[in-house]
Amino acid sequence: MQDQITIVVGAQWGDEGKGKITDFFAENADYVVRFHGGNNAGHTVIVGDEVYQLHIIPSGILNTKALSIIGNGVVVDPQVLLQEIGALKKRNIEPNLKVSQRAHVIMPYHIAMDEALTGHQGSLAAGSTKRGIAPVCADKMYRHGIRVGDLLDPEMFREKLEKAYSFNINILNRVFNFEFTQSFDDIYELYLEYGNQLKEYIVDTELELYQGYKAGKKILYEGAQGMLLDTDHGVYPHTTSTNNVAAYASVGSGLGFNTKARIIGVVKAYVSRVGTSPFPSELANDIGDKIREKGNEYGTTTGRPRRIGWLDLPTVKLSVRTSGLTDIAITKLDILSGLQEIKVCTAYEIEGKKITEIPASLSDFRKAKPIYETFAGWEDYTEEQYEEMVAGGYNTLPENMKKFIEYIEREIDCPANIISLGPKRSQTILR
Ligand code: GDP
Ligand code: IMO
Ligand code: MG
Repeated sequence: MQDQITIVVGAQWGDEGKGKITDFFAENADYVVRFHGGNNAGHTVIVGDEVYQLHIIPSGILNTKALSIIGNGVVVDPQVLLQEIGALKKRNIEPNLKVSQRAHVIMPYHIAMDEALTGHQGSLAAGSTKRGIAPVCADKMYRHGIRVGDLLDPEMFREKLEKAYSFNINILNRVFNFEFTQSFDDIYELYLEYGNQLKEYIVDTELELYQGYKAGKKILYEGAQGMLLDTDHGVYPHTTSTNNVAAYASVGSGLGFNTKARIIGVVKAYVSRVGTSPFPSELANDIGDKIREKGNEYGTTTGRPRRIGWLDLPTVKLSVRTSGLTDIAITKLDILSGLQEIKVCTAYEIEGKKITEIPASLSDFRKAKPIYETFAGWEDYTEEQYEEMVAGGYNTLPENMKKFIEYIEREIDCPANIISLGPKRSQTILR
């Protein structure tokens, strides 16, 4: 990794393989930083025969020489964080981890509110992961949120929790008729205890990162979610509640870097989507089922079956444009092997017109029909054959796969410098 700053973001609907790509680059990083989202994310990292599923801790944690940082832009469920730390320790990995004092805390009433909101929003719901993401982000903006640092300050915590608790309880009880039984005192005591257990990890990560940056250290940012789940630029309101674009790396870590960053968009060779929204290139048929099974497309966080579709280029182009991608990593090409033909959605037809970008209007997007380009597939190669291709490099890939990759690069005007042919760290080609 040459660049001082590298940012890995999801260029589709999440679950593109950001965890794998982050872990791959983490070897050379001094810091690995999560900058948005929370434990709605589920990132899988496979090294040798070991499988790690991370929701809140950065996927760089396996490189214990790098400091992993949960930045101020992340929303933290302390119970989940403690479980994840415990699980790593059990596997003899001592987490080299720090958590920003300024990160907001997911509280039990946020999780209840998430449940209630999903029911209320009906056809406009995103099908949330029910981890409390929208409510914790709303409380942050209302300005009565609880920050990680507050858990170390009993007086301040009490003062803030009084406001936040009564606000949330009132809405839950009176607006949603939702029975929420956890008392103020129970939550107060429990979260102080979480603070106590997390104390050694909680610091001013923003300052730490700045000092590292000034000293020329290498910083790797790990995005969560994906382009179409970005609150501003995704398919609103079927989105999450934080920005996922690369520019948010600065906001969500407190580091105003002015060096040119390498910004890698992770692109799955097809699309998966967990949750609710229009999905023009969806394959609600046998091919979709086959890809889901072969690709094991079940949510890491919720276990829900992921909806499957053909690769959608307007999505990736939006990511190139809004994140300023310098290159893309194409993952899961191995999962498409054995298909006679592979399609790529290049544009949409909306009311008889050809549209090549994602429309801002939800009603337009609901009407979008995919326009496809069709490619010949490649053989159903074995894992050993793929490993030989990894050893041989890009030129040893099957011609039809190269045609597919090079078509994508041309259409989105961004090079595919990283090719992933399996879930393991080693199953990766750098061009
Ligand atoms: P993330 O949320 O973007 O980190 O992605 P997930 O970890 O939720 O889902 C991606 C899944 O695909 C994980 O199970 C990875 O181990 C797996 N994966 C990543 N890259 C590849 C690849 O190139 N080929 C195959 N077969 N699996 C991959
Ligand atoms: P990673 O980082 C896939 C989706 C949910 C829902 C919407 C809002 O693993 O790629 P939220 O719980 O955030 O309020 O849900 O966003 N979603 C994800 N889908 N991968 C994720 O993360 C996701 N995080 C949120 O399914 O549609
Ligand atoms: Mg995931």
